[in-house]
Amino acid sequence: MNAALYAFDADAEPAQRLADALGAPLRRIASHAFPDGETLITVQGVSQVALIYRTLDRPNAKLFPLLQAADAARRAGAGRLVLIAPYLPYMRQDMVFAPGQALSRDVLGRLLGEAFERIVTVEPHLHRTRDLSAVFGTAVTVLAAAAELAAVLTPSPDLLVVGPDAESEAWTARLARGLAAPYATFEKVRHGDDQVELVLAPEVLVAGRPVVVVDDICSSGATLIGAVGQLKARGAARIVVAVVHALVSAEAERRLRGAGADEILSTESCPHPTNRVSLTALLARALAQEVAP
Ligand code: R5P
Repeated sequence: MNAALYAFDADAEPAQRLADALGAPLRRIASHAFPDGETLITVQGVSQVALIYRTLDRPNAKLFPLLQAADAARRAGAGRLVLIAPYLPYMRQDMVFAPGQALSRDVLGRLLGEAFERIVTVEPHLHRTRDLSAVFGTAVTVLAAAAELAAVLTPSPDLLVVGPDAESEAWTARLARGLAAPYATFEKVRHGDDQVELVLAPEVLVAGRPVVVVDDICSSGATLIGAVGQLKARGAARIVVAVVHALVSAEAERRLRGAGADEILSTESCPHPTNRVSLTALLARALAQEVAP
């Protein structure tokens, strides 16, 4: 089948690596901003299968141009549209927590589900969501990044893997398996955007051990700053923070280092100075069938 990868200029580097791995051409999505802030989106060339690569940190700015790109590709003749969104935003608002709130996960799902035949993503926050395809009304392929993270971490006999809350248990357990290490998770209560209370059972032995703290998302940084601070206070020998989606500001990253993080690394799902983990091979395996002749 005739397939091409499409990307906005800002995503050109990871998209080019993915295009090379797939043996597919990379085509440009051009964005023109009018003086009033509206955008005009134009896609280059025509292909039957259009794979659109889009990082979705800062989602409110990126989502409308993405929907315009899908429309442009469809009008240019694409019969199948596949979105590659390594980070899927708004998955944490997966229920109405207080009366009057929007259910953001479903709002996003309706928009993307209508525009794309398939969505490929990495470690979306699925704490309460069993079947994302059902919510989005389109095929959603969910990929785990534990093997990619484990590959850049150094295993050691007394290593401990720690998740900062009960919600992190699934990916903490996967990473611990990959590193052949035991794991533990904090209990977390959130009091506000950047106020969290964390408790790690006293019987978890931390003193003198290297620790990897892993989470799916680092946003305000409050969760990981709290976890790292406590692990440091309990005598952890060396603390490495591994996150899948790094959304954290430079200031919060500085506070995380100040709390005791010796190293911080993230996947390239969101462009960030801590990116050290490539997702190219993982995504290419999931997409191989889309470019098969
Ligand atoms: C929440 O349950 C997620 O897994 C993360 O722990 C959370 O999103 C991190 O957010 P923040 O960096 O703002 O504490």
